Amino acid sequence: MAKDLPSIVVLTGAGISAESGVKTFRDAGGLWEGHRVEDVATPEAFVRNPLVVQDFYNQRRQQLTTVEPNAAHIALADFEGSYAGEFLLVTQNVDNLHERAGSRKLLHMHGELLNKYCTLCFEVSEQTGDLGIDDCCVQCGQSGGLRPDIVWFGEMPKYMDTIYDALARCKLFLSIGTSGNVYPAAGFVQVAAEAGAQTIEINLDPGGSSRLFSQHIHGKAGECLPAYLKNLLVKV
Ligand code: OAD
Repeated sequence: MAKDLPSIVVLTGAGISAESGVKTFRDAGGLWEGHRVEDVATPEAFVRNPLVVQDFYNQRRQQLTTVEPNAAHIALADFEGSYAGEFLLVTQNVDNLHERAGSRKLLHMHGELLNKYCTLCFEVSEQTGDLGIDDCCVQCGQSGGLRPDIVWFGEMPKYMDTIYDALARCKLFLSIGTSGNVYPAAGFVQVAAEAGAQTIEINLDPGGSSRLFSQHIHGKAGECLPAYLKNLLVKV
């Protein structure tokens, strides 16, 4: 019965998309695709140099057409499809690989590359191609207000109430492919542990919050996760 099954929250980061060919943020000397984070992922950078920032996200958006979900994305989607208990996948990633693998209960806490946001009328809408700095908002018709719907440093991540509610109820918290450097996501393990959950880190190497986890699996997500989830389905 679903009500007897443990509630599960999964947090993913850039490491889960690494085997698909999407670069992580902190594995290349602190540069993200050759850029300092402060130059492309802050509201100040956008005010200072909107062309550079729009172009950076246009390139990231174009890259999505060249990459595919990997075994780890697929294993999570398959697990969700087979699991009758409560399940929530929270990703820090702005790519669309989880949904393309078939994940359904998914929250993009740092926004999505395939969405834009109008700072003039606050409308979020889909954006599949390049976004120009003078493009007009489909909702309000004004130009000059559109930006990628990405949560930049210094901004509030999305869905926090829903995420903290789920963490407070969960009995198993899985963190996959994240360095545990960026809050509030890096603090989720503590919230889950305080709620009495078993906490598991699956990452190439120990992340910044590693000592807070009750179990560690170190290796590539595409190799470790399918086996781990298959076993979990049998156990629960
Ligand atoms: P990071 O780049 O900080 O960390 C990625 C982690 O994945 C590292 O600890 C790697 O060791 C690990 N890793 C790499 N390849 C892996 C693989 N094949 N399997 C498993 N693990 C692997 O990325 P995040 O922790 O996601 O925020 O970064 C968090 C946030 O910081 C991002 O969402 C972004 C960034 O600045 C915003 O843009 C707001």
